[in-house]
Amino acid sequence: MLCLGFESSCDETAVALYDTHRGLLSHQIFSQVDLHAVYGGVVPELAARDHVQRMLPLLKASLSESHINLNEIDGVAYTKGPGLVGALLVGAVFAKTLAWSLDIPALGIHHLEAHLMAAQLDERPPTYPYLGVLVSGGHSLIIAVESMGSYRILGQSVDDAVGEAFDKVAKLLGLGYPGGPAVERIAKSGHAARFDMPRPMIHQKNGDLSFSGLKTHVMQLVAQLDPDDQQAKADIAAGFQAAAIDCLLIKSKRALSLTGYSSVVIAGGVSANQALRQACLEHFGPMGIDIFFPKLQWCTDNAAMVAITGSFRLPNEYDVDADIQVLPRWPLESLSAVP
Ligand code: KG4
Ligand code: ZN
Repeated sequence: MLCLGFESSCDETAVALYDTHRGLLSHQIFSQVDLHAVYGGVVPELAARDHVQRMLPLLKASLSESHINLNEIDGVAYTKGPGLVGALLVGAVFAKTLAWSLDIPALGIHHLEAHLMAAQLDERPPTYPYLGVLVSGGHSLIIAVESMGSYRILGQSVDDAVGEAFDKVAKLLGLGYPGGPAVERIAKSGHAARFDMPRPMIHQKNGDLSFSGLKTHVMQLVAQLDPDDQQAKADIAAGFQAAAIDCLLIKSKRALSLTGYSSVVIAGGVSANQALRQACLEHFGPMGIDIFFPKLQWCTDNAAMVAITGSFRLPNEYDVDADIQVLPRWPLESLSAVP
């Protein structure tokens, strides 16, 4: 199965070709970071308009990178949700129109399933079942992954997603957008223990997470800060990062003992964070847990994860009608298991 994948759920436009036998054949991406940076966050209408301009050039580049002709493609996968409705619609219209004109099947892909599937692009992919820790700008989920498509949510944030908290803390510290990598960068020269940071909900026995109290605590610290005190900023960033990581690890560890699983996959944009990766290795390693992270390139939004997800699902399912439907909200647990 040679699957063409499109991603346009937020501020990255991406196109990829994945072949079941030959692996990933091409990946082209355009990031809108510069477009949104001046506004300090993603402006949905601008995102949608920019996707319109980027899709076709990226598709052409993807075909020429892989030396593939359109008529060799077996199916088209696109991100159907969750995400920004206008941005999703651009990808869905483009992908379904192309599939229809080529007389091949199209399938809408769940963005969070695709994030988990990014780990399958590795030379050493995880085997099922595993605990999925999905940490991105929109979600913080701890998931029992029985098999592809069979998901049970064991824990999630009751307020901000962890990536969202990274972005807000970056804004408070005047680090700009996107915030996660910027917070990680300055945290390297910070002392995490200098400021006491809350670790909300860690004593509750459920899988729930919360990051908004931590962000509010940072806001209060910043209010008392000398704006030129770079060391204090680094210390706050390090303290925030350490607290956020602790919360994720404590709840994930609990979920691991609950499920009895021996593998964990950490995916989504925040899984690019080296401090999180290191902490996972230190905590889960001694427990005998096999730890999987997608390659850095496949942690944040991309189309390789969409194309590989499509290659697994398309032989069994496809969009039956020609109408365009996207799902800005789409429960992961409503997906069907892949036979
Ligand atoms: O998965 P993703 O690209 O988009 C969503 O589906 O949301 O994740 C983007 C999020 C942003 O909040 C970004 O700040 C965060 O991932 N992120 C990071 C790092 N790289 C990206 N957070 C912490 N450390 C990083 N190195
Ligand atoms: Zn994402």
